Amino acid sequence: MKARKYPGLFVVLEGIEGSGKSTLALGLETTLIQRGFRVTLTREPGGTETAERLRSVILESEPAPLAELLAYEAARADHVALKIFPALRDGQIVICDRFTASTVAYQGHARKLSLKTIDTLNRIATDGLSPDVTLWLDLPVKAGLARAKDPNRFERESVQFHERVRKGFLAEFTKNSKSGRWKKLAVEKKNEEEVLKAAFNALKEKLVKVKP
Ligand code: TYD
Repeated sequence: MKARKYPGLFVVLEGIEGSGKSTLALGLETTLIQRGFRVTLTREPGGTETAERLRSVILESEPAPLAELLAYEAARADHVALKIFPALRDGQIVICDRFTASTVAYQGHARKLSLKTIDTLNRIATDGLSPDVTLWLDLPVKAGLARAKDPNRFERESVQFHERVRKGFLAEFTKNSKSGRWKKLAVEKKNEEEVLKAAFNALKEKLVKVKP
């Protein structure tokens, strides 16, 4: 797979339900824009017209696990090709709420589909693009589920399912932390402002790559 070169910075937020990714994404967007950076804020599944349509299908119906996996990957392929990579090539900071590690955690560790297959499909769908930095917002499952509003299909899954998701993120963090591309933020006892500050500090060294 070819290495991707671009002047932008690709930041991904990961975590279980109720970890505060969406709130942090908005906070980071505002903070970075105030500092003169150009930012694209996006999410998975979604981000493009086709991917948002796939999102509704996935979250509002009950596809078979393999069909669900392929639908996430189809949405991702469209999102990377039409939105993420063009913004990175344009020198922007892309903040993406969930990416490939969510597939490893949810479809792999929680739904128990083959991790090897998921790894292969992730590489195909992203065309080899991987985040410059993944911020993992970690907190205990019970605390996350208590905070999660708007219950969707995944929020109705068992506590054990979400424990497996959290373990999946831990496994990815352990595998990648030495590379400096994964940072863990323990968020249970932090308020929004504290999480934003910790996230911004974790990103600081990466920001030298992009010019405001
Ligand atoms: P969303 O409402 O965005 O949840 P959250 O606010 O917690 O991010 O719904 C996205 C759901 O899709 C979430 O439960 C996780 C799931 N998901 C996967 O199972 N696999 C994936 O690859 C992605 C990107 C998301």
